Amino acid sequence: MPDPILQIETVSKVYPGRAGLFGRSAPVEALKGVSLSVGRGESFGLVGESGSGKTTLTRSILRLESPTSGRILFEGQDMATISPAAMRALRARIQIVFQDPYASLNPRMTIQQIICEPMVVHRATLGLSAAQRRDRAAELLTLVGLGPQHLSRHPHEFSGGQRQRIGIARALAPKPDLLLLDEPTSALDVSVQAQVLNLLIELQDRLGLTYFFISHDLAVVRYLCDRVALIHRGTLVEEGPTEAIFEAPASDYARGLIAAAPEIRLPA
Ligand SMILES: Nc1ncnc2c1ncn2[C@@H]1O[C@H](COP(=O)(O)OP(=O)(O)O)[C@@H](O)[C@H]1O
Ligand SMILES: [Mg+2]
Repeated sequence: MPDPILQIETVSKVYPGRAGLFGRSAPVEALKGVSLSVGRGESFGLVGESGSGKTTLTRSILRLESPTSGRILFEGQDMATISPAAMRALRARIQIVFQDPYASLNPRMTIQQIICEPMVVHRATLGLSAAQRRDRAAELLTLVGLGPQHLSRHPHEFSGGQRQRIGIARALAPKPDLLLLDEPTSALDVSVQAQVLNLLIELQDRLGLTYFFISHDLAVVRYLCDRVALIHRGTLVEEGPTEAIFEAPASDYARGLIAAAPEIRLPA
């Protein structure tokens, strides 16, 4: 494997039980000692059924959650112990594309404001003027298959697939090295899904990105990822090259996910 960009070391996460009408609910062990390593430039897939802990792991990588135990290293640095200044610089380099392109774009903002927002947040790291940010937003829109004429529009003027292209442009704005993709195509129609996956493949090629791709759908991951890990109720059950898992799944869980995976329909 190339040198790792992301290392997850025996990460566990317990959500405390919530107080409710009938007393306290039991704590939830969302992650149980998860370890994995993602190489630079790799496309790594994390697959599991709903509730298996995928989003919790993604949020932990972004440090929106802190693990109950274990460590997460980016380029060998433990994200829990680096200085706030180093953390700010590092945050620009890890970006996320969300599952729902309808919920993740602010309807009151223009496309320019949406794409520029992370460049404003990370302006100390990126050092771009307002004019440079606007130019970059226009370039990014072209890169994702839209165009500068869309800068002044609002999200409601776009289809689901176009919105997800805008979400991808926003994620690319601060020049990340690592892109977390949390089910980025599962809210889209099958035909549109393939187009967005092809765009992601093309962008990875052109920009040398590392992908951490999360899905409940093994077919999508087979199309995009070199390596895959399967997560079940917070535990990694199997990991390896995607094709090897398809050809010789070792667990019943893997066989079940393969059986449930629909064929991907490619655009003509
Ligand atoms: N903030 C939270 N508080 C309590 N439990 C949570 C919270 N977020 C997720 N969970 C629980 O943790 C488990 C894993 O959830 P999640 O990471 O969202 O799974 P996935 O993304 O694979 O569907 C689920 O049982 C879920 O109900
Ligand atoms: Mg999720």
